[in-house]
Amino acid sequence: MARKRHHDDEPRPEPIVARQQAARADSAVVPLENAGEGTYQVALRPRNFGEYIGQRDLIDNIRVSVQAAKQNGWALDHFLFAGPPGLGKTTLAHVIGNELGVNVHMSSGPAIDHKGMLASLLTSLGENDVLFIDEIHRLNPVVEENLYPAMEDFKFDLFIGDGPHAKAVTMKLPRFTLLGATTRMGLLSAPLLDRFGFHWQLSYYELADMTAIVTRSAALLGVRIDDGGAHEVARRSRGTPRIANRLLRRVRDFAAVEGDGTVDREMAAASLERLNVDHVGLDALDRAYLTVLVKSFDGGPVGIEAIAASMSEERGTLEDVVEPFLLQAGFITRTPRGRMATATAFRHLKVSAPARVPTGGSFRAV
Ligand code: ADE
Repeated sequence: MARKRHHDDEPRPEPIVARQQAARADSAVVPLENAGEGTYQVALRPRNFGEYIGQRDLIDNIRVSVQAAKQNGWALDHFLFAGPPGLGKTTLAHVIGNELGVNVHMSSGPAIDHKGMLASLLTSLGENDVLFIDEIHRLNPVVEENLYPAMEDFKFDLFIGDGPHAKAVTMKLPRFTLLGATTRMGLLSAPLLDRFGFHWQLSYYELADMTAIVTRSAALLGVRIDDGGAHEVARRSRGTPRIANRLLRRVRDFAAVEGDGTVDREMAAASLERLNVDHVGLDALDRAYLTVLVKSFDGGPVGIEAIAASMSEERGTLEDVVEPFLLQAGFITRTPRGRMATATAFRHLKVSAPARVPTGGSFRAV
């Protein structure tokens, strides 16, 4: 059975309309201990630009556009965010909605599976509202085509009735902002991409930002953590806030049961080792990928299908979740002939590398 990884951590979709201000009220004092995985991730989200840590260039750009939209009373342009899961694409939609003071309507490409569903989403929007479509690369082509006039001219063409009596009606929509999110910018069609006023590839968070996020989350969760503990959780979290928040809770458990409740560097490192998260943040699935590449395929080059088959894993999970970090951290490279393990990967697995292996740079999670 193919396993899925961090997609599982995705907070469950929220109700279609999330009234920003209400949802955000007093999250700092919400009793989070009994909250489920999705609920606490939501409660830890920054609510506005001021609370948002990291992705500075992106936030600065959005801040300008949001201010311009507010000053002039116009709807914010359509924006597209790309990047691996867990970097904050959904969070950004909520932050933008909050800053604009409008409703955010949440949906996703696979959920809008026919034109009628799109019509019902679009007609429920209020003036200047935000419509967030996650996994927008998975929209079906008919739905996508009907989205174009909505994005461009704020109108929607409908047929009322069937057969010879069918009547074409054009509905006027309120001006709205579409925020699209994708883990695969490359799978978006050119016409859809063209209709966004701005796209941005989110990058993995820097260690200092990750450490600040862990410290902030610990404060919200009421977890005692020192600087060493926050740094250790941060450096094992693959530059991904959602992973950091998940690991923080696990480390908190170990500290409560086997320590005095405080997360210091030693407690964080020992707990995360036991959870199979190593000192650079690779988990069992990452290491399984590298092991297959290095040991079964001699370091490559090898195609993704062959790796996926050897691991009994879904190709999409490997491409969306596992590979982006391994590429960024220099453990693998992609060549026209397939994936290759770098010398860094061989070293990490303590296997001696053949001479032809790419160096991969020197990844250090300091
Ligand atoms: N929690 C998750 N992501 C965050 C971010 N970017 N800033 C602050 N807290 C966060």
